[in-house]
Amino acid sequence: NHITWDVQAAQKGGYKHFMLKEIFEQPRVVADCIAGRADAVHGVRLPELDGLAAPKRLHIVACGTSYHAGLWGMGLIESWARIPVRVEIASEFRYRDLILDKDDVVLAISQSGETADTLAGMRRAREMGATVIGLCNVVGSTVSREADHVIYTQAGPEISVASTKAMCSQLTLLLLLALHWGRQKGTLPADAQASAVRGLVGLPSVLEAELPRMREVAQSLSRKYSSARSFMYLGRGVQFPLALEGALKLKEISYIHAEGYASGEMKHGPIALIDPEFPTFALALHDDLFPKVKSNLEEVQARDGRIVAITHPGLELPVDDAWVIPEVWGPLNSFLVLPCLQLFAYEVADYLGKDVDQPRNLAKSVTVE
Ligand code: G6P
Repeated sequence: NHITWDVQAAQKGGYKHFMLKEIFEQPRVVADCIAGRADAVHGVRLPELDGLAAPKRLHIVACGTSYHAGLWGMGLIESWARIPVRVEIASEFRYRDLILDKDDVVLAISQSGETADTLAGMRRAREMGATVIGLCNVVGSTVSREADHVIYTQAGPEISVASTKAMCSQLTLLLLLALHWGRQKGTLPADAQASAVRGLVGLPSVLEAELPRMREVAQSLSRKYSSARSFMYLGRGVQFPLALEGALKLKEISYIHAEGYASGEMKHGPIALIDPEFPTFALALHDDLFPKVKSNLEEVQARDGRIVAITHPGLELPVDDAWVIPEVWGPLNSFLVLPCLQLFAYEVADYLGKDVDQPRNLAKSVTVE
């Protein structure tokens, strides 16, 4: 008499795929990222950056999902720390005729810390005298060894090729960086630190409560939309990088073509594609840009496009499927949007019978050019 023991199944902890397990780990990821770094009594502390003044200019260099995290961080760092930020795809950055000197700081974001283009970009930046901060997940990785300063995202091992919880940890650290530099420079808007820290501390329990519900919605929407051949993802402002990430997740694991676009740019081309067979996945949350997003969606609807929208309670929208999520403080809403996008892609891919954890043609970390 013996029990058969499957190591992989054991590591998945009862989840069907690593991707699903990792999506559900996000409440813990946020808690671990802020542990020792942010609390109501001490505010924000990033001892990893001791001795480093707030940069005059910041260049964020990354690939894939990490690049989307960088785009998200740009808005917060500019608005809270008033530091001009540029975000670049590492494979472009490494071959540009760069203008960098000792006043520049390059922030290399990489889950694995081994991505060839990101490494090459940070090496060039160091040669030119810039200071490099590595934001990575894998302890002892090449990025972490070669950077002048390292901040670990502490998301734990990510097995699924499609990155999920790592992005959540990157967003958390980017938010802390924006607070850290904003405080250093005295540019933080009143109450930003207190609201952000209070919100971050409360986030794990909000996520914990919402994730099962999000999965149910994702599952039912996946049944309705998985026959689409193409998807448009739309967002504006702080949600625009999330639209890019939603589209990336869907194409990576379900092989459905998807494009992420800034909602306001729709009228400059992509709206020509809209018809009843080409659905739109919109991020339409309660923020200053909501009226703008709404009118962008009215234009899609006028062309008979079907729309799924992640939105907040009480907002009126002309859409086929309103996916209502609870509202939290300001930029923290992205932390609730992210798992919805991940779960939607996951459920579509799983429903279509795709190999979710090992999508064709993709590698977890791209160590060659
Ligand atoms: C590969 C992975 C992506 C990841 C990207 C950047 O393409 O499949 O999930 O976002 O590399 O990886 P990094 O480890 O540098 O964050």
